[in-house]
Amino acid sequence: MPRSLLAALLCTALAAPLAAQQSADTVAPESATQQPSAAEPVGLPSYQALTGAALEAKAAGRPVEAQDWMVAAANPLAAVAGANILRAGGSAADAMVAVQLVLGLVEPQSSGLGGGAFLVWYDGATGELTTLDGRETAPRAATPRLFQDETGEPLKFFDAVVGGRSVGTPGTPALLEEAHRRWGRSNWQSLFSDAIFLAEQGFAVSPRLAALVQEDAERLSRFPATADYFLPGGEPLQEGATLRNPAYAETLRTLAREGAAGFYAGPVAAEILRAVRTAEGNPGVLSAVDLALYQVIERDPVCAAYRAYEVCGMGPPSSGALTVGQILGMLDGYDLAALGPQSAEAWRLIGDASRLAFADRGRYMADSDFVPMPTDGLVEPAYLEERGMILDRTDALPEEGVAPGEPPWDHAFLWADDASLELPSTSHISIVDRYGNALSMTTTIENGFGSRLMAAGFLLNNELTDFSFRTHRNGVPIANRVEPGKRPRSSMSPTIVMQDGKPVLVIGSPGGSRIIGYVAKSIIAWADWGLDVQQALALPHLVNRFGTYDLEAGTEAGALAEPLSAMGFEVNTRDLTSGLHAIEISDRLLGGADPRREGIALGE
Ligand code: GLY
Repeated sequence: MPRSLLAALLCTALAAPLAAQQSADTVAPESATQQPSAAEPVGLPSYQALTGAALEAKAAGRPVEAQDWMVAAANPLAAVAGANILRAGGSAADAMVAVQLVLGLVEPQSSGLGGGAFLVWYDGATGELTTLDGRETAPRAATPRLFQDETGEPLKFFDAVVGGRSVGTPGTPALLEEAHRRWGRSNWQSLFSDAIFLAEQGFAVSPRLAALVQEDAERLSRFPATADYFLPGGEPLQEGATLRNPAYAETLRTLAREGAAGFYAGPVAAEILRAVRTAEGNPGVLSAVDLALYQVIERDPVCAAYRAYEVCGMGPPSSGALTVGQILGMLDGYDLAALGPQSAEAWRLIGDASRLAFADRGRYMADSDFVPMPTDGLVEPAYLEERGMILDRTDALPEEGVAPGEPPWDHAFLWADDASLELPSTSHISIVDRYGNALSMTTTIENGFGSRLMAAGFLLNNELTDFSFRTHRNGVPIANRVEPGKRPRSSMSPTIVMQDGKPVLVIGSPGGSRIIGYVAKSIIAWADWGLDVQQALALPHLVNRFGTYDLEAGTEAGALAEPLSAMGFEVNTRDLTSGLHAIEISDRLLGGADPRREGIALGE
């Protein structure tokens, strides 16, 4: 943890302590939004005590240990907001709402009200797993050629991203409400207290946010509302600066009062539509009808067997659980434990299993409400065993050997292959509460800063660029093409690992389509190599999706470059900035937060 972040956090704690003593079942009093005097540091002891130990554990590479509850999220202020709810007796669903609302403020580039999310829920009372799909939808007026020029050629990626064209109907507000309706124990309005407090009183800009604003300044400068917020006076926000967001506070107050209806209709909706439809140079077609008709969808969880576990997560339109499950399923017949994390042979197996899984992903995976998909067949053990036998060799698979398979499927139609671009972004929240519930949610506005359009205090997503820009290849349709009302394929992999019907690991990460590799690797490190949850996340990444083996720069992964090259892999060393957050559940809780980012795990 950089000292500058610690300093920024403590500065924030002094300037804007959270409303930690508010009970989770009371509505925030108006006075909670007043600046406390230095003599009355509301919530300060709780904030310092909690974050101090968590930051120390993370710096030392140790997991955080707790008995009753745990939250792990991408920014300490968001984790504290969740901890405040859990400590007061709230459920994991309640805490998730508070965490998401603060993340939308302090990590606005990654997720928020203007985006979408997938949630995996283990219910401590019933023992059931539920997954909720809060993915964005394509507007009713979108056509399959949304991201093509007049000659039918795909647009350049950022020409499509920046502006209104890429904005899908946001799903996150509806997902928050649905999760609270099903599993909440706290008063809805109380979940907004910390986010409103911070939005009004201000928070310290984190080093990561400041660096990303600096990098993206040109794109952020294209739209006045976005430029005013991120580039005040024309200059990028500086690390440690106090940032207030009264427009976001106003939106939060509306949602606290009216629920998600206050987002999908009325003044907030009108602001969203105005931003999208009048975006200079690249307007979009999102309409009031799209917003009004948005629905969260409950879907069957996708589970794959691995060793003694069932690895469960989000099915289509996410490719996450299927692709993680395929990688693990193909490796199930190989003794990775005996090989160990330093073995090039282990990484040959993992890398080529991943390439084969990505070949299936590119052909078959999309929104199964719109295109037929062999969902069950893709993770059927016999199919994965057969695919895994392809790995029984000593060198890297040649490119022509990495073809999609033929999963069991009662359907004759095949799709053309697609490897559309997905750049790193997103945020992950893991929570376990005192009632035995566990929650894994990955949440996004897609690219860093999404479409770069801001409305009502939050950024709007560019999720539609997760669709294939092409509709066909050689006359054969692509499953993940744009269609009105459809949800773009995702790589988000919110995961709960089960053993004997009980959750033992809650995990997920941001990172575009590398999310899949980050999650699969961390599960292998934990399950096969016996690493604790913090060590498993910290273990250097090696990720192979489409042939090139990406090795994490500045880590011991470098030692594997030569042997992997000798096996025939093309190797590339680069930053691999995951944002894994995980909780191991046994007779205690152990929380891990990715050392590559600013998050922490907190528990008691
Ligand atoms: N936009 C990132 C994902 O859905 O995978």
